[in-house]
Amino acid sequence: MKLIDIYRLFIQLGKEHDPRKGEELEKSLDRLQKKYEDLKNADKETFDQEKLTNPYSDTRILYGDPETEVKTILAGIDMETQEILLADRLREKGGKIDLLLAHHPEGKALAGLNNVMHMQEDILAEAGVPINVAEGILSSRISEVQRGLMPLNHNRSVDAARLLDFPFMCVHTPADNMVNDFLTRLLNDKKPETVGEINTILKEIPEYYEAMKIGAGPKIVLGADKNRCGKILVDMTGGTGGSEDAYAKLAIAGVGTVIGMHIGEKHRKKAEKNHINVLIAGHMASDSLGVNLLLDVLEKKGLEIKTCSGLIRVKR
Ligand SMILES: [Fe+2]
Ligand SMILES: [Fe+2]
Repeated sequence: MKLIDIYRLFIQLGKEHDPRKGEELEKSLDRLQKKYEDLKNADKETFDQEKLTNPYSDTRILYGDPETEVKTILAGIDMETQEILLADRLREKGGKIDLLLAHHPEGKALAGLNNVMHMQEDILAEAGVPINVAEGILSSRISEVQRGLMPLNHNRSVDAARLLDFPFMCVHTPADNMVNDFLTRLLNDKKPETVGEINTILKEIPEYYEAMKIGAGPKIVLGADKNRCGKILVDMTGGTGGSEDAYAKLAIAGVGTVIGMHIGEKHRKKAEKNHINVLIAGHMASDSLGVNLLLDVLEKKGLEIKTCSGLIRVKR
């Protein structure tokens, strides 16, 4: 399979499992197209054209010829210089690797992480928060994330991949859409009534079961087993943690339990104040589940998958 076809397939799967309902996703691309047409000089020349068809700013081919034929992939949650050196050692020992695939964004995909966060406005709206309120609470958080990304050395791992000549890509939000959709469907189907019942359902999923063996399984961080869960929101996509102000609005909108990959202390305190139960499923296990659902599609097409860097590989 060609690198460009893997990339396009991931974007397509990400769109098919996107939490934005109806035409919202296509409309956001149309709005950007109009903005692009109005750009001038350097702003127009340096504009990343991929943005016009790929709604996920954190998912990109970072290095390598898009026409490269890929048979074997080394995939990991974080693919940084240490993993790229590891890949080089494996290659030196005779292992074949045609593509390095990261989940967490690197290079220009890391610099653009804040842009995917706008989808959280639609996620909040879908949960019952008015769109104007959702946009209001996200706007300062999105600029905070953008400022937080500025000091980073974004292209360090991309430079390593270039020097060792490894094709390199990252797939972030499409994978997070997969896990978000998988868990939302599963819980809709099983209809748990308490937080403890949600926890039991999660612990039966192989990625979480494996994570439990290494002390990184699901954990209730707010609420208790016996608490009734009310309306459940699976909050596992949209770039990175949103605004802590969302919890007060979610409580009014009728959300009783939030299931996330991880939670910051500021956010946890706001959730507590608003009596929202929070179940943290585990970061690497949740990211693994999302990536696995993408990798399964490639494996069925005959590609060989090797894993590293925290990726718990489970095939479905
Ligand atoms: Fe993720
Ligand atoms: Fe992650």
